[in-house]
Amino acid sequence: MTTTAPAVAYDMYDRAIYASPYETYRRLRDEAPIYYNDSYDFHAVSRFDDVLRVLTDRDAFLSGRGSTYSNIKADVQIPEGLFVAEDDPIHAVHRGLVSRLFTPRSINGLEPRIRALCDEMFDSVAGLGRFDFMKDVAVKIPVRVIAMLVGLPESDHAELHEIAHQTENSTQEVALAGISAMAGFFDEYLAWREGHPTDDIMSQLLTMEFEDQTGTIRHLSRQEMVTFLVLVTSAGSDTTATALGWAAKVLADHPDSRRELADDLSLVTGAAEEVLRIEPPSYHFARYVARDVEFHGTTVPEGSVIVVVPGAANRDERHFPEADRFDIGRKPGTIFTFSFGTHFCLGAALARLELRIGIETMLQRFGGQWTVDEEQAVMREAVNTRGYEHLPVEV
Ligand code: HEM
Repeated sequence: MTTTAPAVAYDMYDRAIYASPYETYRRLRDEAPIYYNDSYDFHAVSRFDDVLRVLTDRDAFLSGRGSTYSNIKADVQIPEGLFVAEDDPIHAVHRGLVSRLFTPRSINGLEPRIRALCDEMFDSVAGLGRFDFMKDVAVKIPVRVIAMLVGLPESDHAELHEIAHQTENSTQEVALAGISAMAGFFDEYLAWREGHPTDDIMSQLLTMEFEDQTGTIRHLSRQEMVTFLVLVTSAGSDTTATALGWAAKVLADHPDSRRELADDLSLVTGAAEEVLRIEPPSYHFARYVARDVEFHGTTVPEGSVIVVVPGAANRDERHFPEADRFDIGRKPGTIFTFSFGTHFCLGAALARLELRIGIETMLQRFGGQWTVDEEQAVMREAVNTRGYEHLPVEV
């Protein structure tokens, strides 16, 4: 009697796949490069070349109906200014405005403050033999960095942190309440800021004129500004904290690489990139299919949802030699952790900077030695990001 293995199955809600996705990803690439899930009604691409195609063909694959599976399916009304879920030309207008906050000069200017913040966070666990790397360190860093980026007074940083964390790991209702609390917080901040202008970029955004997609010259509305700030905060906090968690875990799993890094901190930039490749915090994102397209002889009809699996494409052997091997000297070139093309993560340089400083501080503080208690580690309950909720470490 011959038995055949059951066909590969994948969806972003499956907790067993979430816990350990890489065998499923390999099977998707090899056996079902254009995969169709008929329970949830989506197609998925997992090979490097196919992901690249979806993210570069802006006529066939749209973000304007949402950029995750659940948003597109729910057919939600997208607030104006939430440019991760807009298409060009309006996307380019909004992104162009917000990108003023993210110039190399403003990001690099944050380096000493991020270093001081990391020192403060690692000081707070100094002397503890064991702590939760996520709750005690990682999640405390990115929101405060965003607060610095948008010029929030120091006295309000803690409140933003509290509000931002209501939106994570919660039911849809609690998450929505969190987002509206964040919008209210930023609305108040902008009102205060109008009365207390400085020469920084936030003040410029409040007063400058720009040409919108209709050709009208105008100021940004308060609503647009609030949406920008909510987008930046929600896109940049949870993701970056998750990346810091992966760095702690992956380096603990590779003590030889960790020793090399502790001896030569100039290797950390490459190691951070390799952590982002091998364990991307982005779990899935999605596009709306605007016309019939063909992949590997299969037609994906107009109106479908196509899911991009960055973690699968980042380990495609067709593109990355020995793709499952963690190699701090690898120069991977394009990876999909931050997406690609017109929606490429606006905060990627900032996230990379936080990750580099976070790893350097960890190596210096813990003498390049810590272990992770895998038994007690708990993964997040998320579908857009993948990583740890609790990561107990011992030093
Ligand atoms: C390791 C950390 C991060 C990861 C993995 C990440 C991942 C991503 C991904 C995958 C997208 C594009 C989604 C798509 O194509 O549909 C994106 C977009 C975006 N990210 Fe990030 N992100 C990170 C950190 C940040 C930070 C620190 C900020 C800002 C403080 C930020 C702000 C944004 C914004 C504004 C967009 C929208 C860009 C656009 O649509 O043009 N991200 N990010």
